Amino acid sequence: TASAESPVGTFSLVVVSNRLPVDHEDGPEAPDGTATDVWRTSPGGLVTALEPLMRSSGGAWVGWPGVADRSFEPFTNDGINIVPVRLSAEELEEYYEGFSNDTLWPLYHDVIAAPAFHRETWEAYVTVNKRFAAAAAASAALGATVWVHDYQLQLVPRMLREARPDLVIGFFNHIPFPPYGIYAQLPWRKQILHGLLGADVIGFQRLADAGNFSRAVRRLYGYPTRGVVIDVPTSEGQGRSGATRRVIAKHFPISIDAVAYEEMARRPEIQARARQIREDLGNPKTLMLGVDRLDYTKGIGHRIKAFGELLADKRLNVEDVTLVQVASPSRERVETYKALRDEIELAVGRLNGDFSTISHTAISYHHHGYPREEMVALYLAADVMLVTALRDGMNLVAKEYVAVRFDGDGVLVLSEFAGAADELKQAILINPHDIEGTKDAIERAVVMPKRERTRRMRALRKKVFDNDVAAWSASFLRTLTGGAAVQAGIPQS
Ligand code: G6P
Repeated sequence: TASAESPVGTFSLVVVSNRLPVDHEDGPEAPDGTATDVWRTSPGGLVTALEPLMRSSGGAWVGWPGVADRSFEPFTNDGINIVPVRLSAEELEEYYEGFSNDTLWPLYHDVIAAPAFHRETWEAYVTVNKRFAAAAAASAALGATVWVHDYQLQLVPRMLREARPDLVIGFFNHIPFPPYGIYAQLPWRKQILHGLLGADVIGFQRLADAGNFSRAVRRLYGYPTRGVVIDVPTSEGQGRSGATRRVIAKHFPISIDAVAYEEMARRPEIQARARQIREDLGNPKTLMLGVDRLDYTKGIGHRIKAFGELLADKRLNVEDVTLVQVASPSRERVETYKALRDEIELAVGRLNGDFSTISHTAISYHHHGYPREEMVALYLAADVMLVTALRDGMNLVAKEYVAVRFDGDGVLVLSEFAGAADELKQAILINPHDIEGTKDAIERAVVMPKRERTRRMRALRKKVFDNDVAAWSASFLRTLTGGAAVQAGIPQS
């Protein structure tokens, strides 16, 4: 039963994530002088993946509306029940820009950038996690399922369990979980594990991530693990009696609504837009495409280096090949991201200065986010898709490209350090640190015969359509509610 002090809500499914599917923007002033609210689709793979489930389930989505110091009443947007959580400007700086994106993000992505460890930002992380847990508890009906998402909210499962032992609690980590040697750097490594172990099921992208997590639990807590099962002592079990709860830590590779992407790609106006894009670029023989948030994990610099060398070596010719790089703005107040932007824009400028001609631009660079329709047109227009991440939880861009190519054409060059590489084996897999290997892979993609392109794309499409996002959420929720039944019915020790 719920504890007396916590209010009980009405939703039987509650999703909790740092970012809501929509960001707030101030709209034009109404005639009476009051501000109007505009809600725009938020960036990132998490939102892309969860939207379909939320639209079909009637659940509530608890999260931050993308602006500081603003309170909003719960509302419905495009069929989704939205419950906004207020964050102050200082909390955003410490919890979001600080602990989440300057500590956990680089740590969990193989320390590609150096993580900062600050005690004040950890305090803010704890405070904000409490607020999200309270908001989720207030939305969840008795016995409801609450599904918490991603690295910003790893303490929420435990906080929820303590406030509301009636709930079934799931957690999904959208980013990698690092090997123990890296994870162990975190001064709050035990607190984070304790927070996560409040969940009944902890989901990861890759088998290796789940393995890293279980290993960290064994090393830091010594709890026994058997395959995907971890026996976690209950608070009563802390003594010698040994009562335990069963927690499942398992990989559930996330996906996209593949059918929706294909449907969009089949629209005549989007195909016309794809043709227009190629024409506007001077109808290059080969159009290559990169689509990323402007993040140091994405290997954008490595990609530009490889492309530049191919031009310099005359293995590619600027008259024939154009690279379109969409780099959508991200976390712009974090220093590492500011430095990255300078670095990438310098590299793009240099490369274009060296190789572009009046009629042909080597890299068409865009520091913008675009609506989904425009992205689909770009995917359709691109002969070669470059995903060169140095580390990435999944990378849904790779799956979107495949879903869109109903024509069976197009070549995907994919980093083995993206989670998607576990499934998309028929892509041209690369190690982006190996510039020579990456250059060979790009050249191979450019000259690949049509028959081989079709054969590979057909196999990739089968993977993506067989394992779409509906299958992902169904599989996670089945494990979660099945797990809870086991929990309730069978004593674990
Ligand atoms: C990744 C993370 C998400 C995050 C998104 C956008 O996909 O896994 O949790 O929402 O990036 O980043 P942002 O910091 O803008 O929310």
